[in-house]
Amino acid sequence: MMNLIYTGKTKDVYELNDGNYLLKFKDDVTGENGVFDPGANTVGLTIEGAGRAGLKLTKMFFEKLKEDDIPTHYVDANIEEATMTVIPAAVFGKGLEVICRYRAVGSFLRRYGMYAEEGQPLDAFVEITIKDDERQDPPITEDALSMLGILTKDEYSVVVDLTKKVAGVVKEALCTKGIELYDIKFEFGRNNKTGEIILIDEISGGNMRAFKEGKYIEPLLLEKLMLEE
Ligand SMILES: Nc1ncnc2c1ncn2[C@@H]1O[C@H](COP(=O)(O)OP(=O)(O)O)[C@@H](O)[C@H]1O
Ligand SMILES: [Mg+2]
Repeated sequence: MMNLIYTGKTKDVYELNDGNYLLKFKDDVTGENGVFDPGANTVGLTIEGAGRAGLKLTKMFFEKLKEDDIPTHYVDANIEEATMTVIPAAVFGKGLEVICRYRAVGSFLRRYGMYAEEGQPLDAFVEITIKDDERQDPPITEDALSMLGILTKDEYSVVVDLTKKVAGVVKEALCTKGIELYDIKFEFGRNNKTGEIILIDEISGGNMRAFKEGKYIEPLLLEKLMLEE
């Protein structure tokens, strides 16, 4: 028996009998008008096999993070079923997204275009946005997070440190395939049992922008390139 507790844009979340959660990866990807965009808040298109491909890459990265002793929610994955068993976590507030940027693209460029050039290198710049579709995921500062009781200053620095570590692992892995990571988006939460801050959600092509020889790599192609021998 499992209980559907949340229907997301790209995944459904079930509660299992033992208290763990099951994430079901769907073939829906974010974007607009049929064009993929990792920053979008709407489902833009459905691609056959996208869920399974996203899960494969997610599994590979979460297993790598485990070897590096980076705390995550990962328990195991079933590729056939496109499901991943995870440790339940409480998100911060109603959910935050944490972005690590190596090059100026996407919303960073839209906001800071007066000063930043497209594709300009950024030094693993971390920024946090609020998951709030209605308000287009506004960025929020460390001070505002602590004032609003969403994240203490200590928690903020844990999240930023973990983000740089995890993004570094992904960047390295892509680099071995001649692919450059421009930016990537994560979610974190507090482990329901231990209170520890852990990486949750997924690490798939849908959460990052990657380029090979200056050309943008779509999520499905990225997953193929990363997983082939
Ligand atoms: N370990 C976890 N504990 C609790 N919630 C989680 C965990 N991992 C992922 N989630 C949540 O499950 C949802 C996954 O579905 P998704 O389609 O990505 O949702 P969204 O449309 O909110 O991005 C997200 O809201 C994410 O915050
Ligand atoms: Mg999501």
